[in-house]
Amino acid sequence: MQKLAIQGGNCLNGEVRISGAKNAALPILCASLLSGDSLQLANVPDLNDVATMRKLLQQMGVAIAVNGDQVALSAAHIDKLEAPYDMVKTMRAAILVLGPLVARFGEARVSLPGGCAIGSRPVNLHIKGLQAMGAEIHIEHGYIHAQTKRLKGAHICFDLVSVTGTENLMMAATLADGVTVLENAAREPEVVDLAHCLIAMGAKIEGAGSDTITITGVEKLHGASHRVMPDRIESGTFLVAAAATGGNITLTDARADILDNVLEKLHEASTTTWVEGGTINLQMSKRPKAVNVRTSPYPAFPTDMQAQFMALNTIAEGSAMVVETIFENRFMHVQELRRLGAQIDVEGNTAVIKGCAQLDGATIMATDLRASACLVIAGLVAQGETVIDRIYHLDRGYEHIEAKLSALGANIRRLK
Ligand code: EPZ
Repeated sequence: MQKLAIQGGNCLNGEVRISGAKNAALPILCASLLSGDSLQLANVPDLNDVATMRKLLQQMGVAIAVNGDQVALSAAHIDKLEAPYDMVKTMRAAILVLGPLVARFGEARVSLPGGCAIGSRPVNLHIKGLQAMGAEIHIEHGYIHAQTKRLKGAHICFDLVSVTGTENLMMAATLADGVTVLENAAREPEVVDLAHCLIAMGAKIEGAGSDTITITGVEKLHGASHRVMPDRIESGTFLVAAAATGGNITLTDARADILDNVLEKLHEASTTTWVEGGTINLQMSKRPKAVNVRTSPYPAFPTDMQAQFMALNTIAEGSAMVVETIFENRFMHVQELRRLGAQIDVEGNTAVIKGCAQLDGATIMATDLRASACLVIAGLVAQGETVIDRIYHLDRGYEHIEAKLSALGANIRRLK
């Protein structure tokens, strides 16, 4: 198992290019199943989850050509309508093939994703929505088996906001007979990016980015080209790392308009930021102030940035509360931060962090993707060496992170 070794104490300075968004690329790769024509993608990040999704699609018969960050997909000859457990268990986003397969082929067998470190992660809303659109669904031997002659448009109101639930049903509705309305839909920018790609393929979608999305089904979708949006969580992660270590960094190929809440929190922590077009600059020359955060669906504070801000708060001036309202177990990083000397009390879904003057390096363990990022930030500020184990979690969602951090002046290396 690979590890990262970090010598803490360096400020981050310089420029870093933000990669394509993992959580936009994953549903958009699945959108290729909706048409027999070629889907040409650009700015696809080089991540383990993206590689896993490509493998899953290829085993169904999708022809995929990769050339750097360009990916061409053709689902002209699909010969398998199944997402097997051994692939779904490593990447829950595999559930996103369900909607497209049922919509285009009238059938799918997709393994129920297991739970994961941050929560039980049920997919009942995905299933309920497809049933509302006329799919016959049986759950047997850990698989979702869905069948239909042709999906019908339906009026679906989500019990709670679900990002991939919205994406799955939006994709399914593009080929359904009639109009589908998704109420209480997720407003995440990644949902909007997927909608843009689907519209380029000929889908009729209105309201993406709002809480009500209307999709008018069409007979067929055609090929298209699409450039994946920048990753707002990677952007936020680098900005928090610069706020914690001090320094002056500039993100390029980024988008500030989808980071309002995160930038506001960084200002509260007393950083100075400056935005021009696709660049975001952050300067920090003093100890950060502690900031309270409470996670909620977009456009409120993103749960995927909660762990990173907790790392910032461990060395901030003052105390702060972090409230996690989306997932029931997304404080796995707390125990590891305590090993570095952080002072954190947890009560239910609320953590109170008392900032301390410094953390001391230690050997710690990554438990999930964003917790890993949190531990990297803590290692960058801790005194001495921090070794982070199980960094395969990190490689799922951050493209070449140690190369990008080293280029900014961090003392970080991967131990084989
Ligand atoms: C997406 O997960 C992201 N993953 C997650 O990012 C992100 O944390 C999450 O949205 C919230 O923003 C991708 O986009 C691939 P949800 P998703 O459905 O869609 C409950 C990362 O770090 N729920 O919005 O699986 C669920 O348990 C990952 O990149 C149901 O109860 O999350 C959770 O409490 C981690 N039934 C809440 O809704 C359902 O059918 C929100 O989950 C679906 C969800």
